[in-house]
Amino acid sequence: MKVLGIESTCDETAVAVVDGTEILSHKIASQTEIHALYGGVVPEIASREHLKRINILLRDALLESGGIDSIEGIAVAARPGLEGSILVGLTAARTLSFLTGLRLEEVDHLEAHLFAWPFLEKLTPPGLGLVVSGGHTRLVYIKKWGDYEIISDTRDDAAGECFDKVASMLQLKYPGGPEIEKAAKEGDRKRFIFPVANLKGSLDFSYSGLKTSVLYKIKYDFNGKLSEKDRKDIAASFQDAAFKPLVKNAIDGAKKTDSGWILVCGGVAANSRLREMFRKPAEMAGIKTLFPPLKLCTDNAATVAACGEFYLKKTD
Ligand code: KG4
Ligand code: ZN
Repeated sequence: MKVLGIESTCDETAVAVVDGTEILSHKIASQTEIHALYGGVVPEIASREHLKRINILLRDALLESGGIDSIEGIAVAARPGLEGSILVGLTAARTLSFLTGLRLEEVDHLEAHLFAWPFLEKLTPPGLGLVVSGGHTRLVYIKKWGDYEIISDTRDDAAGECFDKVASMLQLKYPGGPEIEKAAKEGDRKRFIFPVANLKGSLDFSYSGLKTSVLYKIKYDFNGKLSEKDRKDIAASFQDAAFKPLVKNAIDGAKKTDSGWILVCGGVAANSRLREMFRKPAEMAGIKTLFPPLKLCTDNAATVAACGEFYLKKTD
């Protein structure tokens, strides 16, 4: 089924056309350079930028994939996210659906992250999803596609947000995740020991302590003055501390729910060190881990379209 997907929940305007496991068009206009000037996403600017870009992306994606007449359904990410930003994509999708008579599926942005799976391989539930993004850090037990149980969440900040804040402390640009990954590659990850949240008896996550500990390290141990080497070593040590609980809780969660596989998705899943840190413990536990290609980790409309297609085809 050929589905047009639209995503505008945060600072990426994205439009894609997907047919089954084939991505016919994949357009993303990122606003990160604009928001980098402010150190983070400014909601009012984000919605205005979506408005400037959405029609251009719709036109380009449809031109590339055979035109609106070839489309069989529409999907849009309708929650959660920045209200003003969501309204841009949602209004475009509802208007298109109204004018063409095509069915519209309004999907959940986090569920859409999980729907990177159709582009990987046939994944048969039950399994576990680890959604790690700028706004969420969550373990989802996937009983069936469309039937989920959230088994843990963050108690405070999301992992991605923590990367963005620590990057700003290290005077790296926004978004912080890719910048920290880059700096960490040349850093000594054993130089500093940052606290890893261990919430006894729970698979929940917590990132506020780690964030504060990096802040105090820079402020009190270095008096705010970091050399290039200090910056890289802090990035590497922080990154490992941030990932330890993701790996541990996901594997414990998979064992607890008897899940044979873990799908890691959302923007933070793009990180190569996270992929590496999962490898050994997952192998030892006999659990398969799956990571989407980078363009399907961060916000995009192909996964939105895939999620929409699932519901548009669903008959029960
Ligand atoms: O899923 P996403 O694109 O948007 C949200 O739904 O939030 O995730 C964005 C988050 C940002 O916090 C960004 O810093 C983080 O994902 N991120 C990364 C990497 N690429 C993006 N974090 C760590 N390493 C990366 N390579
Ligand atoms: Zn996202």
